[in-house]
Amino acid sequence: MNAIVDWDRNAPQWPAILAAAHGEPVPPALMASPLWQVYGPVLKKGGASVPFVIGQIGQSLDGRIATPSGHSHYINGPAAIVHLHRLRALVDAVIVGVSTAALDDPQLNVRHVEGPQPARVVIDPNGRLPQTAHCFRDDGVRRVVIQTVDTARPPGVEIVKLETGASGFKPVDVLLALKEIGFNRVLVEGGAYTLSRFVTAGYIHRLHILVAPLIIGSGPTGLNLPPIKKLEAAKRPPTQVFQMPSGDVLFDCAMDS
Ligand SMILES: NC(=O)c1ccc[n+]([C@@H]2O[C@H](COP(=O)([O-])OP(=O)(O)OC[C@H]3O[C@@H](n4cnc5c(N)ncnc54)[C@H](OP(=O)(O)O)[C@@H]3O)[C@@H](O)[C@H]2O)c1
Repeated sequence: MNAIVDWDRNAPQWPAILAAAHGEPVPPALMASPLWQVYGPVLKKGGASVPFVIGQIGQSLDGRIATPSGHSHYINGPAAIVHLHRLRALVDAVIVGVSTAALDDPQLNVRHVEGPQPARVVIDPNGRLPQTAHCFRDDGVRRVVIQTVDTARPPGVEIVKLETGASGFKPVDVLLALKEIGFNRVLVEGGAYTLSRFVTAGYIHRLHILVAPLIIGSGPTGLNLPPIKKLEAAKRPPTQVFQMPSGDVLFDCAMDS
């Protein structure tokens, strides 16, 4: 287990971390703090053509991210929600798949900590998301939809049109397009299909898995990757582990190491 982190929304180091995310120098005292151990590694900008990509997923002890009917609010406790809002505040854009956008109708904004609002990106190849979805509401932040059809969207929503192959969009094409429109650091918030596509393609640089102390017993799992025959082929990323109040445990995996 790594250092004890101050998960309180008013943690005194948070403003300096936000400032570092926007290019301010990192004070030596901050570098020594447990909060920096968690958030320092996500403050990268990615390469010349693709953004830096953080994935996050909240799951039960048995690896489920929702019940079979799709109920997922809330698997994790309050500290994990503060953490998710911190990640949102540190990125330029948050990405979700259309099933999450339609089923959960998430706000995808920063409400539980101080910080700027990220853009919202929905991957909706077939134009399924209703015009009234929260992701599309006009609240001053950029809203982007990635699609292959000609479906019209509410005023102000930026449409990125991509070609789909036999298995949908290539994650790299999604990232190239997002970099092109100015996003240097993005957060893939789910669901399982969307996150798994990015992990399979090798485009999640840092993966935060928040394991909650409950057993759901059935329902979708967080990651579904192509099968491997032997454990030698399993991914074993260098991982930091942080305990949260209320029992959640954060596994912070350096997928790009
Ligand atoms: N516990 C958590 O942390 C967490 C977080 C988020 C969501 N969830 C739960 O996850 C469930 C939804 O997850 P999900 O896996 O079913 O769906 P999802 O990942 O939210 O959305 C999947 C859909 O998005 C589109 N899509 C995503 N990536 C694509 C690509 N590379 N190319 C083409 N299309 C792409 C496809 O739309 P089309 O079907 O139109 O082709 C695909 O079927 C919900 O129950 C939600 O509550 C849990």
